[in-house]
Amino acid sequence: MTYHKQLTIGLFGFGVVGEGLYRVLQQTPSLRASIKKVCIKDPSKKRNAPDALFTTDRDELLNDEEINVIVEVINEADPAFEIVSTALRNGKAVVSASKKMIAEHLPELLALQQDTGESFLYEAAACASIPVIRNLEEYYDNDLLHGIKAIVNGSTNFILTKMFEDRLDFQQALLLAQQLGFAESDPKLDVEGYDAVNKWAFLLTHAYGIIEHPDNLLFTGIQNIHAGDAKVAAEKGQQIKLVAQARKLSNGKVASYVIPQFVPQEDHLSFVKNEYNGVVIESGFSDKQFFYGKGAGSFPTASAVLSDLSALRYDYKYEYKKLYHHQPNTLTDDYYLRVYLSFTDWKNIPREKFEWIEEWHAGEERKYLVGVLPASELRLNSWWKENNTSLILTAEPIIENVAIQQLKKKSLELAGVIL
Ligand code: HSE
Repeated sequence: MTYHKQLTIGLFGFGVVGEGLYRVLQQTPSLRASIKKVCIKDPSKKRNAPDALFTTDRDELLNDEEINVIVEVINEADPAFEIVSTALRNGKAVVSASKKMIAEHLPELLALQQDTGESFLYEAAACASIPVIRNLEEYYDNDLLHGIKAIVNGSTNFILTKMFEDRLDFQQALLLAQQLGFAESDPKLDVEGYDAVNKWAFLLTHAYGIIEHPDNLLFTGIQNIHAGDAKVAAEKGQQIKLVAQARKLSNGKVASYVIPQFVPQEDHLSFVKNEYNGVVIESGFSDKQFFYGKGAGSFPTASAVLSDLSALRYDYKYEYKKLYHHQPNTLTDDYYLRVYLSFTDWKNIPREKFEWIEEWHAGEERKYLVGVLPASELRLNSWWKENNTSLILTAEPIIENVAIQQLKKKSLELAGVIL
């Protein structure tokens, strides 16, 4: 019976996640899954497993007919894509944690799944231990998903927590994240938001049937957040988090971005500290639901791989229901965002781009303002990431076109009073 399928695994990568999986599988014999061979890049590295398990020849795994599952947890996106596509074409199911590879090759990966009929699962690639993909796929298989808001990168959340609550400086916090195995080998991927937007790209597919290359999505990281910004946040009783958000607008299209945001105490995401991730889902009748769990690290990530392996025993496949079984949604830039900006010099800020500016302060070192910008201005231009400018979204940042005229009028009246 398929249910009792024996899984014989070829594992690519024996780093934080690969070794974690090896250990976790040793503790779960009931899964009937065993690693036959592990392909690694550097054979000279000392590993905590028998030498006979390792090879540097990928074909030893990809061409072994006894191996029916390839688990791919390597760092580099291009070789990962090669491995995954060959494995699927060779009739093997694949479990992957390579978020960059999945985000950048999603159209090809969808075609490969359709052509081969093989399972390709990647729960570990987003929010590690939180079962977000399978939930979006199965539980929210309807048109009622109003919005989803999440912290999807553990390292940046860890760094922000350590900096603003434990008073470490940025370098110390990053070093700690690296030592604990949360950070990417190139930490720029975490810090500048690339890792978060990669994850967000395919979460948008499972949430809304949207397929968009991460380069085209609106995003930034935490690289420009200034100590003064955290002070402003604290004065307002808020925190700063790197938040990925998508919301269905009244025109039926989806607004989406990954940008630091002020998070008030009553927001579920304010509870998410250190390497934890959190996902808040707003749907038609259930109001809000909050998923919380470790978003990085060896065992939490391995636990998601394990869960995918378990699902393979009954031949589980993603159906991409929002893409193939419903009318897929489309993204839009046709909305506005209320933003906070801190900066050193007005000359770097194109004031004419703002619909209005409702608050501004000039400190000795830095100035800051709160104002409203079209989302397209941020997606298509980069002045707001340059010249040491820090942009943080306000707590409820989306303003729809229908509301803008009304607010514009009110803001002008207010400006009249102030002037
Ligand atoms: N560097 C990633 C993070 C690892 O910090 O979230 C987990 O995907």
